[in-house]
Amino acid sequence: METGIRQSQPFAFARILGIESSCDETAAAVLENGRSLLSSVVASQIEIHEQYGGVFPEVASRQHIKTVYAVIEQALQQAHLSLGDVDAIAVTRGPGLAGSLVVGMNAAKGLALGANLPLLGINHLEGHIYSAWVQPPGPRIIPPEPEFPLLALLVSGGHTELILMNEHVTYQRLGGTRDDAAGEAFDKVARLLGLPYPGGPSIQEAAERGNPTAFTFPRARMEGGWNFSFSGLKTAVLRVVKELEATGKPLPVSDLAASFQAAVVDILFTKTLKAARQYAVRDIVLAGGVSANRALRQAFLAQNEFKVHIPDLALCTDNAAMIAAAGYYRFIKGYRDSLDLDVLPTWPLS
Ligand code: KG4
Ligand code: ZN
Repeated sequence: METGIRQSQPFAFARILGIESSCDETAAAVLENGRSLLSSVVASQIEIHEQYGGVFPEVASRQHIKTVYAVIEQALQQAHLSLGDVDAIAVTRGPGLAGSLVVGMNAAKGLALGANLPLLGINHLEGHIYSAWVQPPGPRIIPPEPEFPLLALLVSGGHTELILMNEHVTYQRLGGTRDDAAGEAFDKVARLLGLPYPGGPSIQEAAERGNPTAFTFPRARMEGGWNFSFSGLKTAVLRVVKELEATGKPLPVSDLAASFQAAVVDILFTKTLKAARQYAVRDIVLAGGVSANRALRQAFLAQNEFKVHIPDLALCTDNAAMIAAAGYYRFIKGYRDSLDLDVLPTWPLS
């Protein structure tokens, strides 16, 4: 079997088993027709890594080994299906931690070989974008399907990227961060403020009690392109924290968190809208762990110039439903990967 497009598939019905293990979540999900979520199981390692203040790679891969098969089994059980009922297996190939990626990849290969199913290697970043297609189960209004051309703002712990899509599984990278990713900035600033890991949710919570205009932090606009920079903002917070600490008074943590968060939201929102206008898209997809941020979601939902698609909260951070969704759109386009597929810890989306 060769990697790449083999043939166009004439049918659209397909159930995909998705597997994700690129960082510190072991996840499996079953998705039907690219949008209907039948099950999604995420075994989080947050409590294990909390003590290190970040992800400890060796511990992460060992933990993936312990849980991967149970998580896959649970996803199939919750969907009331067996492996024979799925049409393909989609697995995260990269980017991510090598030792973590290998665990998911080997599990996927073993199952694909044993059940004679096609294997699809998925870029974790395209997975995040496809989380906007997934409809979680339950009686709720079906979110509208994103339409092309669209602009995706992908904001996670490792990436901050603006990606233009003119059709399914085709990506044009407009720009990205030159230093820290948005999520990384949240995590680092949280540490400066003495807030627990992961920093995004902690900053958000503290910010709800704070004044976003209490401190004026710099907004690196990186004019003339579509890149971002967050290290200057982080350094500015550090400087203010040091000055305040020197006074011996308690840190106004909530005001600092709210003012930092307001700066990040402003930077992301302003540049994304500018790019959306420039590339004449109507649809914007907001995805990745940082898209769980309430202030960021509110900023995008408060405007009515563009149709904004933001995944369900549970699908913003790492999960396997998004990998299955990207897998579905690759599958129906005829993509198939070989069983000697290797993981790619560094793998830009383009
Ligand atoms: O997409 P993700 O789960 O993993 C990566 O692919 O990196 O993103 C994790 C990142 C972390 O940096 C975390 O602090 C951030 O997403 N995050 C948030 C929120 N929830 C998670 N950042 C801001 N606000 C949140 N509510
Ligand atoms: Zn992610």
